[in-house]
Amino acid sequence: MRLLVHLILFSSLSFALFTLNASSQSEMLTDTCVTCHGENGNSLGPAIPNLGGMTRNYLLGAMLAFKYGENVQLNAAIESDQDLEDVEAFARNSTIMARIAKGYSDDEIKIIADHFSEQELFVSQQEVNLIKAKSGEKLHEKYCANCHEDRGTSSEGDTGVLAGQWRPYFLWTMADYLDGSREMPKKMKIKLKKMVKVSGIESLDLLANYYASVRP
Ligand code: HEC
Ligand code: HEC
Repeated sequence: MRLLVHLILFSSLSFALFTLNASSQSEMLTDTCVTCHGENGNSLGPAIPNLGGMTRNYLLGAMLAFKYGENVQLNAAIESDQDLEDVEAFARNSTIMARIAKGYSDDEIKIIADHFSEQELFVSQQEVNLIKAKSGEKLHEKYCANCHEDRGTSSEGDTGVLAGQWRPYFLWTMADYLDGSREMPKKMKIKLKKMVKVSGIESLDLLANYYASVRP
């Protein structure tokens, strides 16, 4: 009987220690991130994306793309790890993240992705032009909604989150996509090029106002 009590006590104690360990480890690893992206993925400035509401695989793809840069290395890293089987990573332009991501092992990046994928979508407070937002909504429905579901609030299909993002970040990202410094899925590229051809480059500003206006 005593042995049993001991066993139970010991195993629950080690479980408690284990969970404590896991959470303080994730806190330690995300220490740097929160100075820019906020405690809950709620970005602290207009050039920095919110991370709340994104899927684990999207976050993993982003971090690995920042870390490995070149497609060859990136694909090799993903293919050599079964846990990354469903991750699709697209090469990315970066001012700061490439340097930061290189400081973490792939296993640490997984813990970081776990942490931020548990945070809720965050809406940045910013001014919105509602007339532009209305036109942006139509463009979204026509060209983007197929993949960026629920008014861009959904990260289903590992698409990232568009709703509530800072307008400057969104516009810079779109500029990167258009000049080829950030890679995107082929079908997104077709839609994006078509939209810009038909409705002009102003359509990006309309979309930016729309996504900024969406409330989950
Ligand atoms: C000094 C500020 C700063 C710090 C610290 C920082 N980031 Fe970033 N993060 C940015 C900026 C700015 C971008 C936009 C890409 C760029 O310019 O590098 C970004 C982009 C990202 C993205 C891409 C989001 C998307 O939707 O495409 C992810 C994911 C990310 N950061 C995760 C992290 C994680 C995880 C950490 C901590 C390990 C971290 N960041 C630390 C500023 C920062
Ligand atoms: C065929 C599906 C598809 C279509 C259509 C599509 N996207 Fe995407 N989009 C994606 C996927 C998948 C990603 C994630 C890419 C990655 O992991 O880097 C993405 C990523 C993005 C991002 C990056 C998010 C971030 O946080 O950095 C933006 C911005 C974006 N899309 C805007 C648009 C806009 C605007 C349209 C319409 C003109 C559009 N997309 C149409 C699939 C699509």
